Amino acid sequence: MSISKQDVISTYLPELPPFGIDAEAFAPSNIALCKYWGKRDVELNLPINASLSVSLGDLGSHTSISVSEKGIDQVYLNGELLQAESSFSKKVIAFLDLFRRGLDQPVIVKTNNNIPTAAGLASSASGFAALMLAINDFYRLGLTTERLSAFARMGSGSASRSVYQGFVEWHKGVREDGMDSCAERLDMSWPGFRIGLLKVATGEKKVDSRSGMQRTIESADLYQSWPQQAAKDLVTIKRAIADRDLALLGQTAEQNALSMHATMIASWPPLLYWQAESVAAMHRVWELRNAGIPVYLTMDAGPNLKLIFQQEHEQEIRDGFPELLDLDIVSPFG
Ligand code: DP6
Repeated sequence: MSISKQDVISTYLPELPPFGIDAEAFAPSNIALCKYWGKRDVELNLPINASLSVSLGDLGSHTSISVSEKGIDQVYLNGELLQAESSFSKKVIAFLDLFRRGLDQPVIVKTNNNIPTAAGLASSASGFAALMLAINDFYRLGLTTERLSAFARMGSGSASRSVYQGFVEWHKGVREDGMDSCAERLDMSWPGFRIGLLKVATGEKKVDSRSGMQRTIESADLYQSWPQQAAKDLVTIKRAIADRDLALLGQTAEQNALSMHATMIASWPPLLYWQAESVAAMHRVWELRNAGIPVYLTMDAGPNLKLIFQQEHEQEIRDGFPELLDLDIVSPFG
C-alpha cells in the first residue's frame, strides 16, 4: 500500500496552521533529454527511472494565489474563469487542499502560460511547479527547493524538474515516502545550446502521459529494457553536456526518446502519439543531418518534435523546414 500524498506532505509542513497572504510565482517549462516513463508509485508519482531535462528560460507558467472575498474557490486559466467542475480547476484545488489542511479560506488561483501556441507543449510541468512555488509563499511554508521539487512531483512527475532553470536531473530516489525523489540543478551551462519547438500537428492528445505510462508498464514486454537504457543514457548525456559534445548529446537524447516511443508502440492497445506530419518532420531532421547539419530530435507524449542544435546552425534549421511548419527557437541559457 502506497503512502498518501497528504500523509507525506503533512509530515514535512510547519506545525503552524496555514493562513494565506497573496503570492505569485513563475516556473519554466522543461524538455526531457532523458525521459521519465513509468512510475513505481502512482499515488506519489515516484519514477522507475531517473531523468534529465533542460528548462525553457522565461517560457512557462505564472501563477498567483490570492484570498477570495467571494466565499468560493475560483481558478482562472489564461485569463478565463473556469467552471468549478473542469478537470483543470479540480486538479489545482485538490493540490492546494493538500497544503490548506482544512482551513476555511477560499482562494483565487490565476495561471497564465506564455508558452507559444506553436509549441503545442503540455503545461503540467510548469503549471504544477509554479503552483507549488506560489503555495510556498502564500502559506509562508519556507520549504527548501528540494522539498518544493518533491512536492511539485506529486502534482505531476515532470514538475519536479521545473522548479529549476538550466539542466536538471530528477533523482529517482529509494525512499517509500519519496522525499529523496526530487530534482537537482546541474552546475553546467551551455550558452550556444538551442531547443526548437516544432509544432507539426494540433488537437488534444487522446491518452495523457499518466495513463500512457501505466498502459506501457502493464502491457509492453519491451518496457523491461527501458530502465537500464534510461540509466545508461543519463550518464552519457551528463558527460556530453559537460564536454559540450552536441553529437553525443543529440544522438543519445534522440535514441532515448525513440526507445521510449518504441515501448509505447509495443503496448496494447498500441499507443502511437505520432501523426503522419510527425514522421515527415522526423525524416526532414534526418535529411538535414545527412546534409551535414547537426540537428537531433526528441518527442514526448504527443505529435510534436523538439529539435536539439547549437546557435551557429539556427538559420539553416529555420530554412530547413517549410514555411508551413511552426518553429520557435528557445535559448535556455539566455
Ligand atoms: C513523456 O510528468 O506529464 O513528457 O507524472 O503522470 O503527471 P505525470 O506525467 P508527466 O510525464 C511526462 C512524460 C514525458 C517525459 C518527460 O517529461 O520526462
